[in-house]
Amino acid sequence: MLIRRRDGGVQVRAPAKVNLFLEVHRRRPDGYHDLATLMVTVGLYDTLDVRETPDGTVQLSCDHPGLSTGADNLVVRAAQLLRSRFNVKQGAAVRLEKRIPLAAGLAGGSSDAAATLAALDRLWGLGLSKGQLAQLGAEVGSDVAFFFHAPAAWCTGRGEIVEPSAVGRPLDLVLAGPSAGLSTASVFGALTVPETPADGAAARAALAAGDVSALGRALFNRLEEPAIGLYAEVGRLRQALSELGPAGVLMSGSGTTVFALTDGPAEAMRVARALQSGREAGCAARVHVVRSCD
Ligand code: C5P
Repeated sequence: MLIRRRDGGVQVRAPAKVNLFLEVHRRRPDGYHDLATLMVTVGLYDTLDVRETPDGTVQLSCDHPGLSTGADNLVVRAAQLLRSRFNVKQGAAVRLEKRIPLAAGLAGGSSDAAATLAALDRLWGLGLSKGQLAQLGAEVGSDVAFFFHAPAAWCTGRGEIVEPSAVGRPLDLVLAGPSAGLSTASVFGALTVPETPADGAAARAALAAGDVSALGRALFNRLEEPAIGLYAEVGRLRQALSELGPAGVLMSGSGTTVFALTDGPAEAMRVARALQSGREAGCAARVHVVRSCD
């Protein structure tokens, strides 16, 4: 997350993430699931322009007509949480430019919430540590804390226990998504928790070593099967990407984005072009060629 002062306010870039490994361990009494996931941020960003306002209100505007800008938006929830927890008198106006697709398994909303916490900490002069901001983030959503430990981390619990991971070399990815999204809650609802969980050690080791072939073989996401059961287009897109021969293919998070892991920028461009011109081009409503963040 990159923060800079701009025109009396603060501008923050909020990156998307993908999951390279995701296993679900159990359903908890609170309705959430314990999971273990390896995440990395990628170069697809929302931008937030945040200003202090004197009247104590929190206002959000967004260029995406499909996104609620009310009290349910994670940006508004993050700002309100920070205000009430630290008794802040000032308000905030946030202008959000949305490029990360919604309900796509890329944690755009969580990243926006993390960016809001970081921006308001700066603007309101709270002086909080990264750890304190991550803890507040975890109250807003399961993926929010991760963004304070980017670019890569092994996350457990609901996702809020974050252990930073090394990235041996940048990853070149093609993100592809069908036209619609899926709600995270509906995908978890369709899941059968496995008796024997998959182990993420191989994926973690391959990411740290920068071994793209080994990482491609170790990609795994327990939520893929239930998501494909709810929305067959995800499976078609996965198959179409696999046929193009990248190092690996996986759905990210609870979907609906599917990504191909490739061995460099030229290979990523080839896969993206082939997907857009191929037989299954119709099922890829959006395609982005991205690199993991530094
Ligand atoms: O915490 P967040 O708002 O991101 O979660 C959205 C929904 O996804 C939750 O209400 C829950 O149904 C499901 N979820 C879960 N276990 C997690 C994370 C999310 O069951 N670890």
